[in-house]
Amino acid sequence: MNATIDLLSRHRSVRKFKDKPVDDALFHTVVKAAQCASTSSHVQAYTIIRVQDKDNRRQIADLAGPQLWVEQAPIFLVFCADLTRLESACDRHGIAPEKGWAEQFVVATVDTALLAQNLMIAAESLGLGGVFIGGIRNDPKMVCELLNIPDTAYPVFGMCLGYPDQTPTIKPRLPLDLVLREDFFSGPKSKKDRTDSLSAYDQTCKGYYLSRDSNLKDQTWSRQMANFMGKVSRPHMKSFLKKRGFFLK
Ligand SMILES: Cc1cc2nc3c(=O)[nH]c(=O)nc-3n(C[C@H](O)[C@H](O)[C@H](O)COP(=O)(O)O)c2cc1C
Repeated sequence: MNATIDLLSRHRSVRKFKDKPVDDALFHTVVKAAQCASTSSHVQAYTIIRVQDKDNRRQIADLAGPQLWVEQAPIFLVFCADLTRLESACDRHGIAPEKGWAEQFVVATVDTALLAQNLMIAAESLGLGGVFIGGIRNDPKMVCELLNIPDTAYPVFGMCLGYPDQTPTIKPRLPLDLVLREDFFSGPKSKKDRTDSLSAYDQTCKGYYLSRDSNLKDQTWSRQMANFMGKVSRPHMKSFLKKRGFFLK
C-alpha cells in the first residue's frame, strides 16, 4: 500500500460539514490538480461553477431533493460538460463546427466526470470531504436558468465540499471477481460462482446497512439495484439534452 491507495480506499461521501470556510488558495490548488486528469484529445470540455449565491443554493438544494447539504456545504460546485470553448476555437479558425453528435456528448461527459473525480480525491487529500450531487438533474433546465448555462453546455452533476463533521462507515464495494474479467467478458468462471459471489456481497451490504451510523435499513445490494432499475428515473433527460443540441445524431 501507499498513501494514494490508502486515500482512495478511505473514500466515503460526506454530507455534514464543519462551519469552517475553505481557503480560496486551497480550493484553487484542488481545482488545478483536478485539471490534470486525462482528457480526450486534450479537449478539456468542462466548466465548473462555484455557486455562492444563497438564493440559488437554496433553489438548487430544493430541486435536488431537497438535499440540505447542498445549501449548507461551504462549497457547492456544478460541473458542466461544455463545448463552448471548442466552438470558439472553430470561430477563431474559421471552421464550422460539427454539432450535435452523440460522440461529442460522450467525450464532454467523460471529461467532466474524470475532472470531478480528480477534484474529489485532491480535496480529500487535503482533509476535505464531499459528495457528488446527481440530484441537480431532477430539473436541469432550472439549473441552467439559475446559473446562465448556455446551450453549448449542460450540468452533469453537482458536488458539495467542506471540512467533514462526520466519519461515515466506508461502503463495501463489489468483489473483484464480479467487476474484473480476464480476456473476455464471459470467462471460465461459472454462472453459479458469480451468483454465489453476488449472494455473499448482498450479505456484506446487508451487514453494512444494518450497522452503519445513520439511515439504517434492512436491504441487500441486489434488492436496491432491482428497485433502482425497476423504475424510470429522470425521463426528461433525453428531451432536455436534445433541446440543448446534444445527442441529436
Ligand atoms: C454521479 C453521482 C451522483 C450522486 N448523487 C448524489 C446525490 O444527489 N445525493 C447524495 O447524497 N449522494 C449522491 N451520490 C453519492 C453516492 O450515493 C455515493 O457515492 C455512493 O452511494 C457510494 O458511497 P460512498 O461515496 O460513500 O462510497 C452521487 C454519486 C455520484 C457518483
